Amino acid sequence: MSDCVLVCNVFNTYIFLYRGLLIMLRALAPIISVAPVRAMMDERFSVLVENLPPAAPVTVQSHHYSDDQDDWEAYGHYISDHNGTVSVSKHLSFGGTYSGVEPMGLLWSMCPVPGSRMGLRLRKKDVCTPLVVNISVYSGHDGFRDKKPLASAITERWYMAPGVKRIEVNENGVRGTLFIPPGPGPFPGILDMWGGGGGLHEYRAALLASHGYTALALEYFKPGELQTANLKFQYFENAFRIIQDHPKVNPDSVGILGLSLGSSIALGLAAYSNIIKPRACVCIGANHTNGLEVHESKDGFINLEQAIVDENNHHIWRNIGLAMMRDPSNLVDVQRINCPVLLVSGQDDQNWPSVEMADDITQKMHDVGKAHQLTRIDYPDAGHLIEPPFSPHFRATNFMVKDKYKVIVLWGGQTKPHSDAQEDSWRKILVFFQQHLYSITSPKAKL
Ligand SMILES: *[C@@H]1O[C@H](CO)[C@@H](O)[C@H](O)[C@H]1NC(C)=O
Ligand SMILES: *[C@@H]1O[C@H](CO)[C@@H](O)[C@H](O)[C@H]1NC(C)=O
Ligand SMILES: *[C@@H]1O[C@H](CO)[C@@H](O)[C@H](O)[C@H]1NC(C)=O
Repeated sequence: MSDCVLVCNVFNTYIFLYRGLLIMLRALAPIISVAPVRAMMDERFSVLVENLPPAAPVTVQSHHYSDDQDDWEAYGHYISDHNGTVSVSKHLSFGGTYSGVEPMGLLWSMCPVPGSRMGLRLRKKDVCTPLVVNISVYSGHDGFRDKKPLASAITERWYMAPGVKRIEVNENGVRGTLFIPPGPGPFPGILDMWGGGGGLHEYRAALLASHGYTALALEYFKPGELQTANLKFQYFENAFRIIQDHPKVNPDSVGILGLSLGSSIALGLAAYSNIIKPRACVCIGANHTNGLEVHESKDGFINLEQAIVDENNHHIWRNIGLAMMRDPSNLVDVQRINCPVLLVSGQDDQNWPSVEMADDITQKMHDVGKAHQLTRIDYPDAGHLIEPPFSPHFRATNFMVKDKYKVIVLWGGQTKPHSDAQEDSWRKILVFFQQHLYSITSPKAKL
């Protein structure tokens, strides 16, 4: 009897010790955590690695497999503190795709992995799914690609907030996608237009809806149709009216957001339309050459034979825009515009003379006593493609000029200042729309 009790006790003690050892080992294994795990695309996250040895060199890497089936990654080299911790929000990266204290460097410095196709641009295609990023920690600063990670964590980045509705539009010939915020409304509306690459891009409109705007992502020609598209007033007026007439929209409170060619349409509509009255316009990479209705008479949009190519054979178009500016008949009469306008330009824009155009717009509005309607933000070392926050920076990417005629276009910008510009301008764009569109819908928004 007593022997048996003794044996059992010894056995239990071993089990106890063994379990304790397991718990200790588990506690000592490095762990990585990302907070919030599920976030909006324009929200910051924090990445924390714990349980490392003190003063250990490690590499923190992010990886994303895109909707286009390409692998993107960013990484920073860190040294753990005396507690065995690396906090990406607080600690220095000593190198990698970014350096310094860069809480969001793991997103904005993403590049295609070595060996990828050339000239890629990362754009979320399916906004109903999140952009999934896998963040891993590896020991050492060299050769992480050949190693197994010490730990990994998945984080989701969303363009579409919970409750936002996505509706495909094909009405009066207008092609696009409407995003409606959750709640009874009515909401202010925004017509969202991208540039000369053509096609339908939903992600920015989805993000605008997540901030309380009914937003229409508009397709106005197909990729590769820049030279042949006929941009009719009526098409854009119809698109604007689809937003305005929606029961969830305050019809007096619809604005326009355009980038590049999209900004020239925004300005053209604001200056000349007798039918629609935008309440506010935001132009990124400002372009006030007049594209509406004039295409057929001008024999193609831009004469690509005038393009300059750099030593990498990347196309620079800014001089084409400068040449177009010399003939005032090419330009929108911005003096006619009667709504607040925000111009966002990158001072290293190689694609279009957006700073010179912003200067010309400023001068002309000033001359007719409309300077108060204009707000300008110019970002040093930012390029043409100022996207929502934390999107990677693309200095040069593939561009389909015509069917089967592809070039690499130089957009410009340096990665870090360009990324700062994206974060700062997005906040200012939202404040601008809030001031000019939301105050009309909801007196509360003024508080
Ligand atoms: C190290 O960890 C201790 C205990 O968790 C904590 O109180 C202290 O603030 C940490 N120090 C640093 C530099 O993070
Ligand atoms: C995250 O990446 C690591 C390193 O490549 C891999 O081992 C892990 O399986 C990935 N996790 C997921 C959920 O894909
Ligand atoms: C600027 O607008 C004009 C006219 O709408 C257009 O031809 C040109 O392609 C635009 N520039 C860019 C860079 O899209």
